[in-house]
Amino acid sequence: YPTDKIRNFSIIAHVDHGKSTLADRLLELTGTIKRGHGQPQYLDKLQKEGQNNRTIFRWRKTSLFCALRASTMVERERGITVKAQTATMFYNYELKKGDPSYLLNLVDTPGHVDFSYEVSRSLAACQGALLVVDAAQGVQAQTVANFYLAFESNLAIIPVINKIDQPTADPDRVKAQLKSMFDLDTSDVLLTSAKTGQGLEHVLPAVIERIPPPPGKCDSNLRMFLLDSYYDEYKGVICHVAVVDGSLRKGDKITSAATSQSYEVLDVGIMHPELRPTGFLLTGQVGYMVSGMRSTKEARVGDTLFHSRTTVEPLPGFKPAKHMVFSGLYPADGSDFEGLNHAIERLTCNDASVSVARESSTALGLGFRCGFLGLLHMDVFHQRLEQEYGTHIISTVPTVPYIFEYSDGSKVEVQNPAAFTANPKIRVVASWEPTVLATIIIPSEYVGAVINLCSERRGEQIEYSFIDTQRAFMKYRLPLREIVVDFYNELKSITSGYASFDYEDSEYVASDVVKLDILLNGQPVDAMATIVHKLKAQRVGRELVEKLKKYIDRQMFEITIQAAIDSKVIARETISAMRKNVLAKCYGGDVTRKKKLLEKQKEGKKRMKRVGSVDIPQEAFHAILKVS
Ligand code: GTP
Repeated sequence: YPTDKIRNFSIIAHVDHGKSTLADRLLELTGTIKRGHGQPQYLDKLQKEGQNNRTIFRWRKTSLFCALRASTMVERERGITVKAQTATMFYNYELKKGDPSYLLNLVDTPGHVDFSYEVSRSLAACQGALLVVDAAQGVQAQTVANFYLAFESNLAIIPVINKIDQPTADPDRVKAQLKSMFDLDTSDVLLTSAKTGQGLEHVLPAVIERIPPPPGKCDSNLRMFLLDSYYDEYKGVICHVAVVDGSLRKGDKITSAATSQSYEVLDVGIMHPELRPTGFLLTGQVGYMVSGMRSTKEARVGDTLFHSRTTVEPLPGFKPAKHMVFSGLYPADGSDFEGLNHAIERLTCNDASVSVARESSTALGLGFRCGFLGLLHMDVFHQRLEQEYGTHIISTVPTVPYIFEYSDGSKVEVQNPAAFTANPKIRVVASWEPTVLATIIIPSEYVGAVINLCSERRGEQIEYSFIDTQRAFMKYRLPLREIVVDFYNELKSITSGYASFDYEDSEYVASDVVKLDILLNGQPVDAMATIVHKLKAQRVGRELVEKLKKYIDRQMFEITIQAAIDSKVIARETISAMRKNVLAKCYGGDVTRKKKLLEKQKEGKKRMKRVGSVDIPQEAFHAILKVS
C-alpha cells in the first residue's frame, strides 16, 4: 500500500458514548472480525486473555469513574478492559477513482488522563480522529479533554453523534454544543447508531475523504514510534509501532533513541486484529514488532526506533514516565513479604510505568513504595494485586510528590511523608505542591454545590461558562493532593451522579504544608503519617483520630490516639482499657468450644499490626485512606 492508500485514525469519546461498540462495528464492516459473533465486544474478549497474562491490561475510561467511586468490586470490574488493540482493516472504497483498496489503521488510545502522555503519543501516530458524542448526553468532560488532545496534535477531527436511536436523542442540541465549544463545522457531522447500524456506512468513507494520508517519506531512513508494548509469555515483549519514515523488515538491526540499546527484529507484522506476520512494515503503517527485549521496561512509549547503521533525528515528544501518586504497599500478613514481592514483580512485567522501591516501616515491616501515573493507575494496580495474585495488602495514604526547600539550601522532591524532614538539623523553608487543571461539566442546578466543594478542596476557578441553557462548564485549578482522596466520589454524590470530570497535570504552586503524625500511646506510626496543607491540618487530624478510635478495639490497657504537628498535639482521643476474656461465655469448661474460641481469636489477630503494644486492625489502615 502506497501511503496515499493508508489512513491512520483513532476514536476518542467520553466514557460510555460508544467508542468500543463503534470500533467493533467498523471491524465487522471490514470483515476484520466476524459479524454478530455473539461476543460482547472484541475488547471484552481480550480481557479474558488478559487474565492469563497474555495481554497487557489497559483501563478504559469507565474505570476511572468506577475505580474512584471505590464502591463494589463488581462495579469496578465492569470498567476494566484491556486496551482495544490497534487494528488494521482492509476496505474497498469504490466511489473514489483508481484502485479502491485502502488500508485503515484504527489506533487505540488509552481511555484515561492518567495515560494522557500515552494518548498524545498514540494520537501522534494518527492524522485524524472520530470524536464520538452521545446524542442524548452531549458533550462531557472527557469529550473536551480528548478534543483538545487531538486538536493539539493537529488531527483532522470528524464529529460523530452516536446513539441516535435513543428516544432522548437530540442531535441538534449536540451539534450546537460542538459548534459553541469547539467551533467545529457541524454541516457534515456524522449521525450514527452503533447499535442499529444506522449511518455507519458513512464513517469509513469520511475517514478516507477527510483524513489526510500519513506524511512520511518512503525513501528516508527508518524512523518509527513506539506506541505501546506488552509481555507475551511465548513471544516475549511485543511492541506496537508506527512507521513514520522508511521501512522495517524482519532481520533488521534497530536502535532505541531513548536507551541506545540495539535489537534484531525477530518478527514483524500487522494486527488484523490478531498478530499476523508480514515480514515488513512500510511507511505510514502501524503494526507490531518483536525484537528480543527482555522486559517492557526497555520499551518506552514515545521512543523513536531506527536502523542501527543510520543516524536520524528522533521524533519529537518523548518523555519518561512521570509518577504523580505514591503509596506504600505492605503485606497484610506481615510474613508474606516474598509473596508480595513476587506479585509486584510479575505485575510490573506488564506495566512498566509503575516505579517500585523497597521501603520499611516500623509499623508495617518490609514493603514497597510504588509510584503511579495517577489515581486510577494506582487503584487498578492495587486491585490486580489482590484479585490476580491473591495478596492481601495494606496501602498507606496516597501522597503526591512535593518539592521542599530546606534550611541548608537543598531542594528535593519528597514522595514519602516519612522523608519530610529526614534530618532533624534542617528545617523546611518553602514547599510546592503539584496541581491539576480539572474540567467539570454539570447540570446548572448543581453549580453552587460544586463551587463549594472545589473551594473546600482549595480550588481556584479558572473558567465558568455554559455549554447550553442546561449545562455548565467549569475549569478549576486544584491541588492534586485534594483530588487524590475521595474527590470524585463526593463530586458524584453532590450532583446526584450527573457530574462529569476530567483533569490534566498542571504546574507546581507554592503551598504551606506540614507533616501530620499519628501517635498511639505516644509512639508515632510512620505508616499513618501524611502531608497536609496547614489550613486543613486541624480538621484532618481530628478526623483521623476519630476514625482510628472507631476501628481500634479496646485492649487491656488505655490507648491514646493523637495527631501531632512538629510534636505539638492537635487532636486526641482515648480508648479505655478492657479485659477481653473470650472464654467468659464458656461456662462449664467445654474444652472443644474453648479451643474453637481461642482459635478464632488467634485468626482475628493475624490481620492485626502491632505498633508498640497496640494492635491495629487492617481496616483501620483502610479507613484512614479516605480522610482528606
Ligand atoms: P468505555 O469503553 O467504557 O469508555 O465506553 P465506550 O465509549 O467504549 O462505550 P461502549 O461502546 O462500551 O458503549 C457503552 C454502552 O452504550 C453499551 O451498553 C453499548 O451497548 C451502548 N451503545 C453503544 N452504541 C450505542 C448506540 O448507538 N445506541 C444505543 N442505544 N446504545 C449504544
